[in-house]
Amino acid sequence: MASPVDDGDAPPRDAVASPPLLFERDAVLAPDLCDLLCALATTGTSQPVEVQPAGGADFVVEQDVRRAWEVDVTDEVHDALVDLVNGLRPELAAWCGQPLEPCDAVAVLHYPPGAFYRTHRDVNDDAVDPAIARRVVSVVLFANSAGESFAGGTLRLFPSGEDESLPPLDIVPRAGRLVAFPSALLHEVTPVDHGDRVAVVAWLQAAST
Ligand code: OGA
Ligand code: MN
Repeated sequence: MASPVDDGDAPPRDAVASPPLLFERDAVLAPDLCDLLCALATTGTSQPVEVQPAGGADFVVEQDVRRAWEVDVTDEVHDALVDLVNGLRPELAAWCGQPLEPCDAVAVLHYPPGAFYRTHRDVNDDAVDPAIARRVVSVVLFANSAGESFAGGTLRLFPSGEDESLPPLDIVPRAGRLVAFPSALLHEVTPVDHGDRVAVVAWLQAAST
């Protein structure tokens, strides 16, 4: 896919969208782990995921903004996922051009039919939680594939933010693939039409100097 980054005719870009918009790596999640996460999502226990409203209020469930469920996983599975993300930390730091703290937590998300996450940023200026305020890199690992396990559920990035002067970049989930993008970038998960979308999310913070 053509990257807008080197397009000399493009309008000035959002500071958050440069340098490179997207880091991608296939086959990060092994097929067995993908299968396990998908089984846990559909047969295990989960809770509605919360959002933090603007202004820094407490986390709340707002299912018109974010309709997805966080899946309970064992410590062993959780730590294996954290290790996978941290294994790529040097490359992610090189990609985003700054040192990163190790990731210490991930969330396994289940998007059943009708689930979505409206346009949002993973970090914003009024984040009160210092851990959130220092998010630099957002990571998504797909445990199953659009077109096979589910329909819809596209991860859509908006390189120029709300003004949409640059076209959105659609990332079609594919089992095992890891993608990373700047946490300040506007993005959404479009509604799942049918099937069950399962993905892991994590964030890496800037290393404190
Ligand atoms: C998030 C998010 C993307 C996805 O949880 O903040 O943007 O693909 N998730 O589930
Ligand atoms: Mn997000």
